Amino acid sequence: MAHAASVAFVTADEPGRPSAPTVTLKRVEDEMLVFTSALWTRKAREIVADPHVALLFHWPPLGRQGT
Ligand SMILES: Cc1cc2nc3c(=O)[nH]c(=O)nc-3n(C[C@H](O)[C@H](O)[C@H](O)COP(=O)(O)O)c2cc1C
Repeated sequence: MAHAASVAFVTADEPGRPSAPTVTLKRVEDEMLVFTSALWTRKAREIVADPHVALLFHWPPLGRQGT
């Protein structure tokens, strides 16, 4: 499926300070978005501590945004 490769991957630390680094989606399936990252990045540490995340994307060809 054609898709926008870059999305903002939003996490927050324990006090709630947000972070939104760009990640590249490797695969998009019906119920799964796949990306890779090094385990020492802030996003990786924060997912371990709190798996609630948000992805920000805008895909005009699909009429889709956000999640
Ligand atoms: C276009 C673009 C694509 C990127 N793709 C990834 C990616 O797929 N995975 C990743 O870990 N970082 C990616 N990065 C780097 C991250 O945005 C970020 O700077 C880095 O991973 C450190 O993340 P942290 O804030 O979680 O420590 C990308 C950056 C750009 C500009």
